[in-house]
Amino acid sequence: MAVAREDVLDALRQIKHPEESQDIIRLDMVKDLTIEDGRASFTVVVKDPDSAFANQVEEACQRVLHEEVSRGLSVDVEVDSEMIPLGDDVMMGEGETMQQTSGEDGVQNTIAVASGKGGVGKSTVAVNLAMSLSEQGYEVALVDTDIYGPSIPKMMGMEGEKPRVNDERKMVPLEKHGIKTLSMGFMVDPDQAVVWRGPMVTKAVRQFLGDVDWGDIEYMILDLPPGTGDVQLTIVQTIPLTGAVIVSTPQDLALADARKGKAMFDNVNVPVVGMVENMAYFSPPDQPDRKYYLFGREGAHELARELDVPFLGEVPIQQEIRKSSDQGTPIVRSAPDSASTQAFAEIADQLTEQVALRNAEDDPTQKIEILYE
Ligand SMILES: Nc1ncnc2c1ncn2[C@@H]1O[C@H](COP(=O)(O)OP(=O)(O)OP(=O)(O)O)[C@@H](O)[C@H]1O
Ligand SMILES: [Mg+2]
Repeated sequence: MAVAREDVLDALRQIKHPEESQDIIRLDMVKDLTIEDGRASFTVVVKDPDSAFANQVEEACQRVLHEEVSRGLSVDVEVDSEMIPLGDDVMMGEGETMQQTSGEDGVQNTIAVASGKGGVGKSTVAVNLAMSLSEQGYEVALVDTDIYGPSIPKMMGMEGEKPRVNDERKMVPLEKHGIKTLSMGFMVDPDQAVVWRGPMVTKAVRQFLGDVDWGDIEYMILDLPPGTGDVQLTIVQTIPLTGAVIVSTPQDLALADARKGKAMFDNVNVPVVGMVENMAYFSPPDQPDRKYYLFGREGAHELARELDVPFLGEVPIQQEIRKSSDQGTPIVRSAPDSASTQAFAEIADQLTEQVALRNAEDDPTQKIEILYE
């Protein structure tokens, strides 16, 4: 049976996207069309694989091709999401799960850095904690899961750089300041991510983390998006986490949100291995030994006690922290003798101790690997 490509395209033009009020050919949603031996195969690339449209489009394609082109035509339609240009073989479908397996190499400890409230310094703490751990000789990875506002590439001085994909089609993390770094911002358009729902995030996170050539990592630090909503919950459920660090500033509002952060991790049985108080005090440059606790001293300590979470340490408010982040060399590297660097080093010490305790009590977190069933 000879089937003309034009006839297939014409038939598919009858399928309109409900929101865009254009047809799927015009919207360039049909890819990889091949017509051979009475069989038409193609992929329909959709924005949201969980939408009603995505669920119906395959059947609609079959119907118009049978009605308009030929009843005897075999039609192979694949519906794929457009977010990550890595190929289909790394996509996971129904019934496939990210699983933990053990082995010699891989990621030993995964620590999420979270907060209930935005702008309290999660990314700053994540980056400098990663740097301090690296300075202490650990193999460290830093992962930016903030799909709405990825800030790690800028803070690490690697804006505009893209990870390459190796021969095994695994992503190779970028290495900067001795740390292997990846950002979901490399592959997700934040404008699109704003409208994502849980399943979409799950898929993106799994794909993002599962097909990366991490090598041996002792500490993987994950910077989370602010808040305790559906997306954050999805991320912390999708990634096997050793523990979480909650960042708060001393104000009451931030403390209230830190409490919500703890509740979120409790819900998914991820232990909170510590709390960090950021912007805790101010030391005038000419009086480096004075500490002014502008918003009071006891808030975060008390909350940590109340929630039964170890207090890892406090970070001063220091202009140099912001400046160094803006310039792409975190303070731990740019000002190794500063009070802030000292603070991050102590927090890193406390963290490794807490993680060791946690691993001694519980089974160690096993390696991240994706199994295709
Ligand atoms: N201790 C500090 N001293 C001075 N500036 C700081 C300090 N901590 C963070 N900042 C600055 O405050 C701003 C917000 O910090 P950061 O981006 O780390 O917060 P975040 O919690 O990750 O924000 P978001 O919720 O948007 O992800 C940045 O400009 C950062 O450089
Ligand atoms: Mg951030």
